[in-house]
Amino acid sequence: MHETGSCVPSGGGDSWWRSAAIYQLYVRSFADGNGDGVGDLAGVRSCLAYLADLGVDAIWFNPWYPSPMSDAGYDISDYRGIEPVFGTLADADALISEAHAMGIRIIIDVVPNHASDQHPWFTAALAAGPGSAERDRFWFRPGRGPTGDEPPNNWQSIFGGPAWTRVTEPDGSPGEWYLHLFAPQQPDYNWGNADVRHEFEDVLRFWFGRGVDGIRIDSGALLTKDPRLPDVGLDEPPGPGHPFTDRDDVHDVYRSWRAVADEYPGRVLIGEIWLPDAARLARYVTAGELHTVFNFPYLSCPWDAAALRRVIEETLALNEPAGAPATWVLSNHDVDRIVSRYGRADTAFDLLRRRYFHNFPVDLALGTKRARAAALLTMALPGSVYIYQGEELGLWEVQDIPDDLRQDPIWRRTHGADPGRDGSRVPLPWSGTEPPFGFSPPGAVREPWLPQPKEWRDLTVEAESASDDSMLRLYRDALGIRRASAALGDGPMTWLPVADGGVLAFDRVPSAPGTSGGDADGGVRCVANLSASPVELPPHAAVLLTSGPLADDGLLPPDTTAWLSV
Ligand code: NOJ
Repeated sequence: MHETGSCVPSGGGDSWWRSAAIYQLYVRSFADGNGDGVGDLAGVRSCLAYLADLGVDAIWFNPWYPSPMSDAGYDISDYRGIEPVFGTLADADALISEAHAMGIRIIIDVVPNHASDQHPWFTAALAAGPGSAERDRFWFRPGRGPTGDEPPNNWQSIFGGPAWTRVTEPDGSPGEWYLHLFAPQQPDYNWGNADVRHEFEDVLRFWFGRGVDGIRIDSGALLTKDPRLPDVGLDEPPGPGHPFTDRDDVHDVYRSWRAVADEYPGRVLIGEIWLPDAARLARYVTAGELHTVFNFPYLSCPWDAAALRRVIEETLALNEPAGAPATWVLSNHDVDRIVSRYGRADTAFDLLRRRYFHNFPVDLALGTKRARAAALLTMALPGSVYIYQGEELGLWEVQDIPDDLRQDPIWRRTHGADPGRDGSRVPLPWSGTEPPFGFSPPGAVREPWLPQPKEWRDLTVEAESASDDSMLRLYRDALGIRRASAALGDGPMTWLPVADGGVLAFDRVPSAPGTSGGDADGGVRCVANLSASPVELPPHAAVLLTSGPLADDGLLPPDTTAWLSV
């Protein structure tokens, strides 16, 4: 057993993550403490009370390490430090202690698929030359063709363009190529190399030892590669035969990581595993591997009752054999903000089609109404829930960022065809009536790193705190009820029969009799109306919360969810 760096919150015990409401905090855009236009840890520390008040159980930080920021911190040059623009390791230690004292746990992002090209291991590999032990920690190969000027295989970068870049050798000659499944500034590690495995186990211990409660594993299905590096077929499905996605040997990595996590009580490993096949995804949460995986099928699902019900059932079936809790995610820093998505004619999300979405009109009022209904639906489902910062304010995707201010490598690598993810990463509006809306302190020397729409004056924390029907009020109320109720969070759910296929209705009844004494103690009945007509509420004792007003005759309007006590 190891000592932790600070006192650990006791709420939820070692299994806190099974029911937790987890706030995804994108440091660059949360709060700027020093006025340089970029969010930082000082800013986060000054706003921890906001998160405690919101009622979240944990914060997941996107990468906060030293990074050249070629991919907003997912290109790490030192896994044991803090990016100077964000603060210092001492700031992180203080933040962890302060959050713990408020009952909030801390999850950090670890990026094991790739380094930064400025990481000392990669610069050493470049200097050491072909055949060296230093190069074996990455994927260096000679090129194809008579002069070696063609990439070693046909793999394409997920950000667009080839997945290989040729280096100049120390003697000045054109040399080997290295693999990068993302940007050229993100060279892929060779997980067949023992140094890589030991290094990451050590990194986990470093952060667990500082009191971090959980690790989100970036690009978790991509780590191991077929060492023969064969060409990949266009239709090659992920799985054992695929050269770089969801290979069987990636599970060896997670078994060893789980053994490390188990040395520290109450710690959690959360996989970012985008896979189309639910059965393959389930393998990551089998005994001795990860605790949970993100629910991308739910995140991608259209606002449609039948489709949502199917995904909910599949999710529960997937997690059940392993006894893992489901996770429910509406959005994150890689996808379009939910208000905009639900306000378009096509309400599904698809990474490969993002480039087309931005051409479609958005009905923000409709999107907001649906996002409110989705929030209550999501928070009533069994398991843990993620809230991406700004979701609680109803922020929308900023689609009109000027081209010269866009930062996402996807934008550049697709030559502007894909707008990228900047629109979901715009700094939060806190107060006041004009940008920077309290994101930066008065007298800040720089403007926010991405421009905020002036219309966000109505969506600031200050404005929404003063309003009874704001999105923020809805999230605070819902999280409060969810925390107080023994029925919500982890546990069973039972579907109710419905007359209209556009309605989702289910009961959450506590597995053990309630101890909270709250209104929701006997159980919570959740009804979401995704149909085009108002519907009757099922039998209930009292209305606990609704995402919008009920009609005068007591009917539940379209695109509205109600929580009822039973
Ligand atoms: C997934 C992260 O969420 C995304 O933001 C990042 O660009 C890629 N992995 C590469 O690290």
